[in-house]
Amino acid sequence: MSNPVMSVDLAGVELKNPVVVASGTFGFGREYGQFYDLSELGGICVKGLTAQRREGNPPPRIAETPMGILNSVGLQNPGVDAFIAHELPFLRQYDVKVIANISGNTPEEYGEMCEKLADAGVDLIEVNISCPNVKAGGLAYGTRPELAAEVTGMAKAHAGRVPVMVKLSPNVTDITEIARAVADAGADALSLINTLRGMRIDVNTRRPILKMNTGGLSGPAVLPVAVRMVWEVHNAVSLPILGMGGVSDGDSAAQMMLAGASAVAVGTVCFADPYAPIRVRDGLRDIAGRQGLDHVSQLTGGVRPW
Ligand SMILES: Cc1cc2nc3c(=O)[nH]c(=O)nc-3n(C[C@H](O)[C@H](O)[C@H](O)COP(=O)(O)O)c2cc1C
Repeated sequence: MSNPVMSVDLAGVELKNPVVVASGTFGFGREYGQFYDLSELGGICVKGLTAQRREGNPPPRIAETPMGILNSVGLQNPGVDAFIAHELPFLRQYDVKVIANISGNTPEEYGEMCEKLADAGVDLIEVNISCPNVKAGGLAYGTRPELAAEVTGMAKAHAGRVPVMVKLSPNVTDITEIARAVADAGADALSLINTLRGMRIDVNTRRPILKMNTGGLSGPAVLPVAVRMVWEVHNAVSLPILGMGGVSDGDSAAQMMLAGASAVAVGTVCFADPYAPIRVRDGLRDIAGRQGLDHVSQLTGGVRPW
């Protein structure tokens, strides 16, 4: 049993451990901060920000599924300026890396938000081109290589020295095609996966459960899909990867890292267990320790395919 070093590097940003919390599942950290010291985490990826405040979609916008949930929240957030004024100072009280997740209606809007967030001093910008729950931007950019590249280029041009990580959608035929386009456009890192489009129906009313009819599936149900996609992307491009989708414990996080992720994000399971990110961190340390590793990062890409 070794005592592995837990810090990892994600696009030049040092995380004290590989566990980040996923955008949209941790708000701006205020509620979870009542359970434990947020400095325990490697990073906090905040709720998706837009240029203007958004109310999100009408309810119901969450539906449970076996080992997961469907959501159609639709990027409810106070807007990038309110985030910088009120939420970032709160997060800065903690020794934790802050990742700003952004969605724009146009490439220019992505650029403007990057400039504001870089000036405000966030540690990393996660460019969401994969939200299935909004009409503009979102998934439209994430499913077409040339648009994904355009948004990436715009973000890079305006983010200054802050690294840009592009969040990929699983709702495509070949995720490596988008990954390559985004890498060629200068992205510093990739994160994947966002939610998988899904639907539930109430058989008595014959109505979809979600008011938007469809939503995005997340939680432990999606882990094998996410691990497969991280593995494919890791084999296709040389960028660091933040792996997410169903990570719920040390084992699932280790699978994600063996498939090629440098760090992992924990999302949906936080709703059922606010302490999940801490459990994932400790579980990862145990697995790396049992395998006699000096450094948890030695797991990254270590899968031995048949
Ligand atoms: C309620 C909810 C809201 C989300 N909001 C965002 C968002 O604002 N921006 C984003 O990039 N991803 C968002 N996501 C996707 C997650 O960050 C993550 O990619 C996905 O849920 C897979 O991880 P998980 O299975 O651990 O939840 C959201 C997911 C959920 C469940």
